[in-house]
Amino acid sequence: MHDFKYVDKELYCEEVPVKKITEEVGSPVYIYSSRTLRNHFNVFDCAFAEIPHIVCFAVKANSNIAILNLFAKEGSGADIVSGGELFRALKAGVDPQKIVYAGIGKTEEEIAYALKSDVLMFNVESPLELQKINEVAGKLGVKARIALRVNPDIDPKTHPYISTGLKKSKFGISIKSALEEYQLASTLPNIEVVGIHKHIGSQITEVGPFVAAMEKILNLVSKLKESGIDIKYIDAGGGLGITYSEEKPPLPREFGAAIIPMIKGLGCTLIFEPGRVIVGNAGILVTKVLYLKTGEAKNFVIVDAGMNDLIRPSLYDAFHKIIPVEEKVSEEITADVVGPICESGDFLAKDRKIAKPEPGDQLAVMSAGAYGFTMSSNYNSRPRVAEVMVDGDKYYVIRKRESYEDLVRGETMLGDQI
Ligand code: LLP
Repeated sequence: MHDFKYVDKELYCEEVPVKKITEEVGSPVYIYSSRTLRNHFNVFDCAFAEIPHIVCFAVKANSNIAILNLFAKEGSGADIVSGGELFRALKAGVDPQKIVYAGIGKTEEEIAYALKSDVLMFNVESPLELQKINEVAGKLGVKARIALRVNPDIDPKTHPYISTGLKKSKFGISIKSALEEYQLASTLPNIEVVGIHKHIGSQITEVGPFVAAMEKILNLVSKLKESGIDIKYIDAGGGLGITYSEEKPPLPREFGAAIIPMIKGLGCTLIFEPGRVIVGNAGILVTKVLYLKTGEAKNFVIVDAGMNDLIRPSLYDAFHKIIPVEEKVSEEITADVVGPICESGDFLAKDRKIAKPEPGDQLAVMSAGAYGFTMSSNYNSRPRVAEVMVDGDKYYVIRKRESYEDLVRGETMLGDQI
């Protein structure tokens, strides 16, 4: 469910015509619906109402502080993977006691920043990282709360680039050596073992892999208990998929119904780190058609947004629906929708059947709220686009379009330094 719909053949976000936004803010532009964001958060949160739980929104999916602030007001925590994400979460008003910190390459400075901020726990990804956290905590005279990120070796049946819980993956600690690592962790003077973490991948469209991974984790939790290590937090990671095209992922309610009975009565707090399922379908990227071109083998619709604005199609061959901002009757063509970047891999859609647009028409690239703006770049020296949040019949620019001056901010020519 989302709040982008046609009214009299014109695309609206909530009560605002998309065209009104592009007229005033320009193109390309990311547009988010605050109503969809709130709904999605609350539907997910309510699916676990029966048991103690914390939803820690995965900041990497969409890190705009307006979005983090909106979730914080709904009670969300944050799943972070860098000092920068910690800074954003704190700035947006997220309660540090609801922040969990994962990532395989935390630096000493980042660890110190998180300890000083008193985050809920570190999700530790290797034995050497654990030693580093112990050392930094010692220097600061504090105890670091930790969970080990355990790799349950489960196939999430998703794109290999976003699959993270297999043996060959760089993430986490093998489930085989986890017990031993936990025992070691519990002897470290500046470490307090409080949790266990797993995250097996993203855009997962079946409940099965989540249940299989949770079974393995719970088995380990009971072994830990036997050896005197009590786990307070079970962090189940993120990964629930969404509908981009025809996928039929489980609803949060169905997901909850499968997981809750496994956890209920254990006396643990369940943590989730959803990203895509909350923001994915709450955002679109609007782009303007610049030119049409008929090549020898293909038709091209050349638009003003490129792979630097939305890299998912180029990087994962990901499908995003593309629909006109104004519906009109025109012949259907099969075309590649491509951007202005100097790379053959710069496309938003390949061999797509669409109503033939005209230069100047606007297209909405759907389901672009997750891993859209956050993965955008300045490649080809293109200023990053504006972000807008709609709230009922009003809209707000939550990130200004970058200027050419922004592109060179911080750069100096040799000689200018002295
Ligand atoms: N927790 C951890 C530790 C993660 O690594 C991730 C995503 C999440 C939570 C959130 O996963 P979600 O609920 O959004 O599936 N750029 C890719 C997705 C990369 C996901 C990375 N980790 C894409 O555009 O599909």
